[in-house]
Amino acid sequence: MIIRAATEDDFEQLFSFGSMIVEFRVSADESFMDRDEFLLRITNNEDVFLLAELDSRIIGFILFGINDKDRLLKNKYACLVYLVVDADYRRKGIAGKLYDTALGLLHKKGITHIYSWANVECDNSMIRFLTKRKFAKGHQYMWMDRKI
Ligand SMILES: CC(C)(COP(=O)(O)OP(=O)(O)OC[C@H]1O[C@@H](n2cnc3c(N)ncnc32)[C@H](O)[C@@H]1OP(=O)(O)O)[C@@H](O)C(=O)NCCC(=O)NCCS
Repeated sequence: MIIRAATEDDFEQLFSFGSMIVEFRVSADESFMDRDEFLLRITNNEDVFLLAELDSRIIGFILFGINDKDRLLKNKYACLVYLVVDADYRRKGIAGKLYDTALGLLHKKGITHIYSWANVECDNSMIRFLTKRKFAKGHQYMWMDRKI
């Protein structure tokens, strides 16, 4: 298994992988992310987008989004937008490896704080994962959306 940066060539496989993950769906009507935005997240050179690959098959990925407008501020924030591992490969430390590798890259980019959202209605895996990595619990919110 290797961990490497995602590239544009990985887009289709990554997007269809992400589309199958029920935990990613925050909206009843919309896909987990617009295709255009997802592609931009891979290609923009600001975010940290890594994947785990086994025999040329993607079995997990992590995306930290970075708001580059924070550039001049003392604290620099990155959001853990997505972390997922194929259900057949969970509990083998793959998410941990994706996370640790991403954290190294975030340090190099000068990021000082990271945050995330975890769905409290899903199994406890993400909350346990983040708690184990010293994330403190904040408020619980309900996602609501509509087209305008
Ligand atoms: C959360 C997720 C990424 C963890 O991936 P993973 O490769 O299984 O994680 P790891 O093997 O690195 O586990 C590390 C820690 O996470 C926690 N964890 C992972 N799965 C867990 C589960 N089913 N129940 C409780 N804790 C769990 C544990 O603290 C675990 O440490 P431990 O094995 O020493 O107890 C995976 O369960 C997943 O893809 N879930 C669906 C997608 C999702 O909900 N993502 C979050 C929204 S972005």
